[in-house]
Amino acid sequence: MTALAAWPYPRWVAHRGAGKLAPENTLSAFRLGAQYGYRFFECDAKLSKDGVLFLMHDAGLERTTNGHGTGSDLSMGEIAQLDAGSWHSRAYAGEQLPTLEALARWCLANQLDLNVEIKPTPGQELETGRACGELMNRIWPQDRTPPLFTSFKPASLQGAKDVAPHIPRGLLVDKLADDNGASPGDIDLQTAIGLGCSAMVLNHDLWTAELVAKVHAAGLRCSSYTVNDAWAAQRLIDLGTDGIITDRVDLFSPAQTGPEL
Ligand code: G3P
Ligand code: CA
Repeated sequence: MTALAAWPYPRWVAHRGAGKLAPENTLSAFRLGAQYGYRFFECDAKLSKDGVLFLMHDAGLERTTNGHGTGSDLSMGEIAQLDAGSWHSRAYAGEQLPTLEALARWCLANQLDLNVEIKPTPGQELETGRACGELMNRIWPQDRTPPLFTSFKPASLQGAKDVAPHIPRGLLVDKLADDNGASPGDIDLQTAIGLGCSAMVLNHDLWTAELVAKVHAAGLRCSSYTVNDAWAAQRLIDLGTDGIITDRVDLFSPAQTGPEL
């Protein structure tokens, strides 16, 4: 039994700012999530053509902006011109895609915690992870709770670890690796351990009592995405997991700290 990794984060994490209530990954979304009482925010970060980290989930611009093509083919100046709010609703028309630095500074100014999902444009896994680490080395004070880096891409976590080994990391897993005779989760757990991760962040359906026990015994925390139903959240709390990422900032109150929702 290894000692559990330090986990100075709230249980509840607001996904992309405020889930679907505001345009994802915009500063308005994070402000709305904070108004609902959230203190820990997940975002998606990738690199612009000129090496600036900005917030967007998809590689392509079409779903969440009025642009076309691949976001990383644009400079940050061009990205800042895009309308990232009209797709959601008229109230948010003209909303900008922020830099990761802008969101991080807003979190620091408001005493909030930040989970950066390193979401590289394909082919930029290592450099995006390194850029995230370098940014936080530059702006995030050592005496504050560090941001949490997560990624589905081991190379991105490796890049972050190379330049900012002190910043905690979590391996995101949507489907457990084919076990080849090993127990479910063993291969992913070994990947996470190899990257010096503090947590595994799984599609919530994947957690079982056996897997939670195994991950905790290895010293890693157990977190889940994207949990939008009360029954699913209660199952994860009953399993003794450590974190819940949700779109439903209007349904779940982070102030509820007991074992029951
Ligand atoms: O960080 C957890 C979750 O956001 C991962 O999935 O597709 O919503 O970025 P996705
Ligand atoms: Ca994400």
